[in-house]
Amino acid sequence: MKKTQRIWPQRLIWITLAVVVVFFSARVYYRLTDDFRIANMTYEMPHHPEWEAPSFTKAERKKFEEILSQPFSYVGKGAQSYVFVSQDKKHVIKFFKFKHLKPKWWVDALPAFPYFKEYRERQNAKKLRQLNNVFTGYKLAYDVHKEQSGIVFIHLNKTNDLNVNVTLIDKIGRKHLLDLDPIVFVIQENAKTFRTVMNEALKSGDIALAKKRITQIFNLYLEEYRKGIYDRDHGVMHNTGFVGDKPIHLDVGKLTRDNTMQQRKVYRPDLEKIGRKIEVWLREQYPEAHPELTKFIEEKFSEIFGEKYSFSGS
Ligand SMILES: Nc1ncnc2c1ncn2[C@@H]1O[C@H](COP(=O)(O)OP(=O)(O)O)[C@@H](O)[C@H]1O
Ligand SMILES: [Mg+2]
Repeated sequence: MKKTQRIWPQRLIWITLAVVVVFFSARVYYRLTDDFRIANMTYEMPHHPEWEAPSFTKAERKKFEEILSQPFSYVGKGAQSYVFVSQDKKHVIKFFKFKHLKPKWWVDALPAFPYFKEYRERQNAKKLRQLNNVFTGYKLAYDVHKEQSGIVFIHLNKTNDLNVNVTLIDKIGRKHLLDLDPIVFVIQENAKTFRTVMNEALKSGDIALAKKRITQIFNLYLEEYRKGIYDRDHGVMHNTGFVGDKPIHLDVGKLTRDNTMQQRKVYRPDLEKIGRKIEVWLREQYPEAHPELTKFIEEKFSEIFGEKYSFSGS
């Protein structure tokens, strides 16, 4: 056998091994860090005057500095954000994962041939729409639903006069000192998700508390419809929550203005989706509490819709 013929199978093994090692190291890195990187939270965006919050009053500035003087530790992520909680556990700072909101590098790298060019333009327009929607949602919440979304401050445009740094402690305990001027972020009250609150109530068998929490969440949605706003994301178990006894809509990245939502016939299917999500969650997680709580939701809906309501449609 020629020497080169013998070397090739060996090379192939080494190459395969190297690929496997790189792949698994990347998986482990992602798992350990949730791929939290400053680069993932920054993006060159044009200034949007419509996303500006009014300038700080003296008292607000003081509060802002006090909150940010503490280190913030990693809590978790969603599809669009990274969330860190303050040392006193009263606030969270939320950063946006531009990784998912900006055009993919390989889409940008496509050659300018006719089909590719159109595909790239379509993809870029879609990403831009997604990005604008998220910030429009947060600004809308800030303007008309501030208390009920727990929002304390928004910084949706880059600045150069904020002059505040924050210390972040990431998932694996690494410290990052961050200049907040070039970063977009939101500061919110720290909440327990609706799922956590329901788990706490039902694990201790407190059905009355579970009913109270469900009612509060329905009231939150009804208040939104009354204001002519609604959330296009129906993930009620993790996107709403409680700050103490106060229900909040903690993820407002899909909050949308639609005045027709003030009409019962228009908001009804939306609220039904929310009720259905809760019902399915109860069925899967707490089958023993499910019948009583489902009946409770049906009664609530009968009251709200002004006619007998049942999940089975009968
Ligand atoms: N104000 C908050 N208090 C406590 N946890 C929060 C808060 N906001 C978000 N989180 C946690 O972070 C997760 C992701 O945040 P979210 O606002 O839902 O972003 P995404 O748009 O990425 O879904 C939430 O599901 C929740 O677990
Ligand atoms: Mg979310």
